[in-house]
Amino acid sequence: MLQIAPSILAADFLHLEKDIRLINDCGDVIHLDVMDGTLVPNISFGFSVIDQVAKIATAPMDAHLMVVHPERWFDKLAKDGVQMCSFHWEAAGRNTSRYIERLHALGLKAGVAINPDVPVSKLYPYIGKADYFLIMSVFAGFGGQKFIYESLDRVAALKAEIGRKGAQGLIEIDGGINQGNIRTVEEAGVGLAVAGSAVFGAADPAAAISALRGA
Ligand code: DX5
Ligand code: ZN
Repeated sequence: MLQIAPSILAADFLHLEKDIRLINDCGDVIHLDVMDGTLVPNISFGFSVIDQVAKIATAPMDAHLMVVHPERWFDKLAKDGVQMCSFHWEAAGRNTSRYIERLHALGLKAGVAINPDVPVSKLYPYIGKADYFLIMSVFAGFGGQKFIYESLDRVAALKAEIGRKGAQGLIEIDGGINQGNIRTVEEAGVGLAVAGSAVFGAADPAAAISALRGA
């Protein structure tokens, strides 16, 4: 079944505990967007927030590192008990396999992320190596952007390539997900959908998560 990862980028940072507990109770995965203002044109939060979230998280934490030199933070994420970590291929380049191996050595699931302007074929060498692939359906950096529909073709192409290789690999999608596009996203082959504004901008976030999951 499709899993939902609410992104705390859209949460209420004055009452973050309430929103983390909501994800523990109703969501599948806690999505943590880490931005450095260099790889992407925005700064979000770092370990002053993640350390606190980790204290009360019971749902698995998924760190989405939108930073240059993502490898600098792998050990610290492991110490915080983060279970999933994705880094951008744009930041890692030819170090991608090495970073996947390092995350595995630390006991984390490894994800490779790409922005909408990176050919999806750049991910193909990591099929069978990475545990998951994060297809950005907006340009990384901000919540609340409009879903780019071409992302569906990219998901389908990646799904087909994973199938052709007889490999395993979860596809995560991130950006502009809402109740109007989630079913087509699921049909294209996504197994984990990130949702920020569609969850925390809703009057009833718990109901929004259930509706997105489609259960
Ligand atoms: C954007 C982040 C997303 C963002 C999604 O760079 O990676 O995770 O929080 O927000 P929505 O769901 O509002 O597009
Ligand atoms: Zn994200």
